[in-house]
Amino acid sequence: MYSVEFIENKLKILDQTKLPFVEEYINTDDVERISQAIEKLEVRGAPAIGITAAYALALSIKNSTIEKIKNNFYSAVNRLQITRPTAVNLFYAIDEMKKFFEENFNKKNLYLLLIEKAKQIHSNDINLCERIAENGLSIFKKKSNVLTHCNTGFLATGGNGTALNVIKKGYENNLIEHVFVDETRPLFQGSRLTAWELEKLKIPFTIITDSTSAFLMQQNKIDLVITGADRITLNGDSANKIGTYNLAVLCNYHKIPFYIAAPYTTIDFNSSDKSKIKIEERNKKEIFKIGNHKITKEIYQAYAPAFDIIPNELISGIITDAKIFSKPYNFINV
Ligand code: MRU
Repeated sequence: MYSVEFIENKLKILDQTKLPFVEEYINTDDVERISQAIEKLEVRGAPAIGITAAYALALSIKNSTIEKIKNNFYSAVNRLQITRPTAVNLFYAIDEMKKFFEENFNKKNLYLLLIEKAKQIHSNDINLCERIAENGLSIFKKKSNVLTHCNTGFLATGGNGTALNVIKKGYENNLIEHVFVDETRPLFQGSRLTAWELEKLKIPFTIITDSTSAFLMQQNKIDLVITGADRITLNGDSANKIGTYNLAVLCNYHKIPFYIAAPYTTIDFNSSDKSKIKIEERNKKEIFKIGNHKITKEIYQAYAPAFDIIPNELISGIITDAKIFSKPYNFINV
């Protein structure tokens, strides 16, 4: 099962807004529809967004006349890059596709070549998810109770996931006792998506509200915390789903290791530190309702950042497909 698949010249996207109750797919070759799927979080998670955008760019020239190829491709670039600002993987995939487009512009069958390039970005992600999981095994010093936030499994990537794949690998190696899953307000990626993946993997888990983690830590019920990241700057500051910073602060107070797991491509080599990260702000309506059920008045003021930033000093290690990095972060020489 994949979050995104390219089948019969269309993109097949598993609609994550319907999970865990309904497994429904969006089949489309339309760039506007794909862009909306990214904006609405029908497809989400940093690596999965990048892969989706790569296929969308290939599809943008599927039916183009020669005269319109460049225009259609760059209109798609412009549309896709305003979908979600924080995850660097989106911009990485767009840049890779742009470079490939320019290098091969005069070749026949450019559409097919772009599809092959998008498939390559996708299969790279599948491989590096496995390397992240293997590299992550060494963080378990004993059979552990782990807490995670948001969703970092196969739904969020092209392969088996990042932080959740470390947990999966740990479980397979008898190094996981139990997984605590933050529900992850306001869109519940934890209680809807991570829970659904853990159910499929048959890994024992318990859902908690985001505000329960401190109490569990106080009772010594958490051995370590692992989350993903959407963008990592050169000094190791890491952006991830809103609420992750709370966890890192709590871990620091309770002397619990806090790890990030992410592909090497989540490192933003153009950004020195957290001040350079653009944080996406979501529509406040998302915190005024649960599903379609209103929980408060829409006239109230609200603030809905999608991500927060964990300063490097709170991170015990960043598990990547290359290796586990720790302070002082030197990502360049691997
Ligand atoms: O808003 P989302 O659901 O796309 O946010 C996803 C996260 O914050 C994930 O932790 C991150 O993208 C890493 S996914 C492997």
